[in-house]
Amino acid sequence: MSLLLKVRDLCKTYIVRSVSNNVLCNIDLDIEEGEFVTVMGPSGSGKSTLLYTISGMDPASSGTVEFEGININTMSKNELTELRLRKMGFIFQQMYMMKNLCIMDNIILPGYQAGIDKKAVDRRADELMRKLDIIDTASKEITEISGGQLQRACLCRALINSPKIIFADEPTGALNSKASNDVMRELNNANKEGSTILMVTHSERVASYSNRVIYLMDGGIQGELLLGKLEDNDEIPSRERKLHHWLSELGW
Ligand SMILES: Nc1ncnc2c1ncn2[C@@H]1O[C@H](COP(=O)(O)OP(=O)(O)O)[C@@H](O)[C@H]1O
Ligand SMILES: [Mg+2]
Repeated sequence: MSLLLKVRDLCKTYIVRSVSNNVLCNIDLDIEEGEFVTVMGPSGSGKSTLLYTISGMDPASSGTVEFEGININTMSKNELTELRLRKMGFIFQQMYMMKNLCIMDNIILPGYQAGIDKKAVDRRADELMRKLDIIDTASKEITEISGGQLQRACLCRALINSPKIIFADEPTGALNSKASNDVMRELNNANKEGSTILMVTHSERVASYSNRVIYLMDGGIQGELLLGKLEDNDEIPSRERKLHHWLSELGW
């Protein structure tokens, strides 16, 4: 396995009305290619901030983030945009889908922009939308569909280019259990097909799909639980119990 992400001494400070808030302090994190890593922690502990800074959406205050051996802090804006388009997929809470495009066009856009064969992109979009039960939203506008449907559309868009890494911030936050299971099945499939995943969730069940869980609190990583690869969905309940026990000890 090779190292995909190498984070060193990462700090992020927000300054609001002259008051500084050290949200992330000296974070070190390695993510191997093919891993499925979950970040958990109390609300406001900086989980979303961690995803934003690691993916280069928001610059770090100090420290380095290397993606495939290249420090993303030294990349130009264009290089970073290109990297995101070709190698990263995003499922963020406040994901800005284009308002003037229908759902289908939003999903295929990154594929077309990356120059992938259009027919293949269309086929994959259709297949993903069927698997996630949102095919009937294809020609609708963003404002015409529910939060849960929008969340699944974001997942389809994130998966369209089979990205090297997927950043997912509470990807099941707005979903009922059936839709949540559909999302986790597709994320798990994407992981099996080679995409590395860095996900934030509050759900112990959702987290139990991942290989490794990191607990973020007071600006730092307080602990790490190795769950190993999920071989069979039948393992979910026992993994969930193990995770629950570990989280309780951390004061979750
Ligand atoms: N753009 C921002 N400007 C100022 N403060 C922010 C900003 N984004 C997040 N914060 C602050 O950083 C802290 C961590 O936020 P966040 O990363 O969203 O936490 P989590 O995702 O774990 O709930 C919070 O105190 C939040 O108020
Ligand atoms: Mg958050």
